[in-house]
Amino acid sequence: MDHGGTILIDRQRIRTRVHEMGQALSDDLAASLAKEGQDALLHADRIVMVPIMTGAMIFTADLIREMPLKMSIRLVTVSSYPGQSTQSRGASLRSALPDDLAGHHVVLIDDILDTGRTLKLVRDLVMEQSPASVRSCVLLNKPERREEDIIAEHVGFDIPDEFVVGYGLDYDGFYRNLPEIVSLPE
Ligand code: IMP
Ligand code: MG
Repeated sequence: MDHGGTILIDRQRIRTRVHEMGQALSDDLAASLAKEGQDALLHADRIVMVPIMTGAMIFTADLIREMPLKMSIRLVTVSSYPGQSTQSRGASLRSALPDDLAGHHVVLIDDILDTGRTLKLVRDLVMEQSPASVRSCVLLNKPERREEDIIAEHVGFDIPDEFVVGYGLDYDGFYRNLPEIVSLPE
């Protein structure tokens, strides 16, 4: 596919890192359950993965298959408005958030943590339901772009402030199906 960009992270590096992330996230969740006296593999029926659509689609599909835990998956859709003026910026929920997260271990999954508005919006709403824990897991992180006071506990790659597509990330709805992370020219 002709995208005119440069490959920033190739397929093999993505595969290796997603495998590591699946293990680290599983260990992290298992540790939380163990603290409650639960056996992760047998009784982890309170783990809820919440992928933020559409960007997290491909990352989520690969990540969860690296996690040998019992889990449920609940999608949410968030639209972001990257406009020039402060007023037009923001993120809004486009689908209902699951309303039964109380006492559950919730993992928010997104393709990229940029300004932080998307994750902050969803995380704040999830917190209102008194979950047992909330974690955020993102494949990419642009630390220089942060505007909200938020971190992701699990990060695949820190990247510079460049616009990237592929592996779920889009430009105007396209290029999500590229198998690598590609940096587009300005
Ligand atoms: P935030 O709310 O500013 O943190 O942005 C998160 C959302 O913006 C992500 O879920 C992406 O959909 C989108 N986004 C941010 N940076 C990029 C990029 O470089 N390429 C494609 N989408 C991006
Ligand atoms: Mg997007």
